[in-house]
Amino acid sequence: MSELAGLSFGTRWLGRPHEHHAALASTNDRALAWARAGAPHGALVTADAQTAGRGRLGRAWASPPGEDLYMSLVLRPGASRQLGALALAVGAGLRDGLAAFVPAARLKWPNDVLCGGRKLAGILCEARWTDGAPEVVVGIGVNVGRREFVGPLADTATSLARELPAAPSRAEVLARALPALEETLEGFFAGGFAAVRERYEPHCALTGQVVSVDVGRAGEGRIAARALGLDVDGALRVAPLAGGEPLRVESGDVWLAEATAGRAS
Ligand code: BTN
Repeated sequence: MSELAGLSFGTRWLGRPHEHHAALASTNDRALAWARAGAPHGALVTADAQTAGRGRLGRAWASPPGEDLYMSLVLRPGASRQLGALALAVGAGLRDGLAAFVPAARLKWPNDVLCGGRKLAGILCEARWTDGAPEVVVGIGVNVGRREFVGPLADTATSLARELPAAPSRAEVLARALPALEETLEGFFAGGFAAVRERYEPHCALTGQVVSVDVGRAGEGRIAARALGLDVDGALRVAPLAGGEPLRVESGDVWLAEATAGRAS
């Protein structure tokens, strides 16, 4: 039996109920289908492997069996404020949970968790509106036991197994991540991004760095700018290196400029 089956997490509502699968195309697909069929706020789907795991901006998420954590949560945030910043709150909560293993873990806006400049975990939020209320699936992938990364990931990804003398199990990672996520999400649902900002900002890897950002349609208006920090709603504030007023970046991707890059993009 998988180490992820039949676990309990000491949470009040997150991870309840929990469905585990040996393999799925994508835990997000299963959670979206379960949400449509009435899964409650907090429901959790995990899988030992994904055959079509997906990441942000249409990318694939490599999901080999048994080594890493693939999970999706169903959230029903009701009329909570700033739904667009939910992904940031998830990033902050996940970082807090992973900090039990790697205290120096940082956040690359919007919500990648980095360790030593490389990507340790990613988050993909997918939402739909039903009867006037949002139904959100939050997919999370954490590189736990994998030591080898191929292709472009070879230079940009890391795992707990690579960062630590002894990697924790996936069950141990889940047991740390879920309570931290629950606490952060409760703050966010009650008070918006402002209520969780202090969990995010001190760990933001971009603040003060030179970055490339898209300010027009995809790729058309990419500029170099210095990241200044976050607005009260979680938007990234940047000062164009060419001069002019600071800009707000509300969505899309941000790249650390070569000279300051570390290794994650
Ligand atoms: C990213 O950084 O691009 C987001 C990666 C999200 C990957 C996770 S793995 C579990 C869940 N199921 C998916 O298909 N994707 C997310």
